[in-house]
Amino acid sequence: MILITGATGTIGSEVLRRIAARGEAVRALTRDPSRARTPPGVEVVAGDFDDPASLERAVSGVDGVFLVAPGGPSTERYDLAVLAAARSAGVRKVVKLSSIGADATDDHWHRTGEQAVRAGGMSWTLLRPSAFAGNALQWAAAVRADEPVPNMTGTAAQGVIDPRDIAEVAVEALVSAKHEGQTYTLTGPELLSFPDQIARLEAALGRTIKTVDVPLDVVREQMLASGMDGEMVESRLRGLKIIRDGGNAVLTDGVERALGRPPTDFGAWVLDHLDAFVTN
Ligand SMILES: NC(=O)c1ccc[n+]([C@@H]2O[C@H](COP(=O)([O-])OP(=O)(O)OC[C@H]3O[C@@H](n4cnc5c(N)ncnc54)[C@H](OP(=O)(O)O)[C@@H]3O)[C@@H](O)[C@H]2O)c1
Repeated sequence: MILITGATGTIGSEVLRRIAARGEAVRALTRDPSRARTPPGVEVVAGDFDDPASLERAVSGVDGVFLVAPGGPSTERYDLAVLAAARSAGVRKVVKLSSIGADATDDHWHRTGEQAVRAGGMSWTLLRPSAFAGNALQWAAAVRADEPVPNMTGTAAQGVIDPRDIAEVAVEALVSAKHEGQTYTLTGPELLSFPDQIARLEAALGRTIKTVDVPLDVVREQMLASGMDGEMVESRLRGLKIIRDGGNAVLTDGVERALGRPPTDFGAWVLDHLDAFVTN
């Protein structure tokens, strides 16, 4: 039995779909099973990273865990809670969704969780993806309404990766012993800035897209006004500053190493998600 945490999110839901399609026994963790849309045959379990008893139930009888916790100041606490429950239940393998740059700064959200995974006595694989192509879905409502899409990263480039590639690596790591002890930094095939991504979308849509540059102090005000926790806001801003300073302009061979094929390009992601950007 494989347990997927973050099973209703971008990567977890794709991993769940792929594992279920292989006929593997799989369990999905969510805080609200009544709202979870999962493939047939998937066992859904109610659980919260802040409720240790629910995690104990979730890991019972489980062989491998795909550990996905939301990014933020709570990631460390969430990771440690799942790992403690998994260890006590005799789970054999953990694959953790981390992030590119997890080892670059002492205060990175994923740093402690990564260290605990490596030292936890279970076999492990760490996935450190760059920026998800799927983040572009956050622009979809503005694009559909022909309103300006906010640019928070200027012209800084990133190795934008298709979430489906991350999910494929996760599935391979969960079902095969080949990836045990591996840390994969996962990027797409090319460095893309916000304007580059917008240009790809424009080409696919056949029309121009309005954008607006948003300086970091305005980003801060907007995040705080939206009700986001202050610690989370500052943490997000530090990440955006690293990106703006060129700190995430990195390409790796992680997908090729893990899957034996090149990563999918952003153009393919755009074509497969074009409907989200079109007004019906
Ligand atoms: N976006 C990027 O560009 C990027 C890049 C690199 C790394 N990452 C990393 O990717 C991870 C996020 O992955 P994602 O985007 O696939 O996730 P996501 O779409 O943001 O979904 C978050 C998931 O976490 C679950 N969750 C939230 N709070 C929970 C709690 N208290 N207890 C149990 N479950 C809880 C949610 O489940 P329910 O709501 O159903 O309970 C949901 O399935 C983060 O760790 C982030 O640092 C992201």
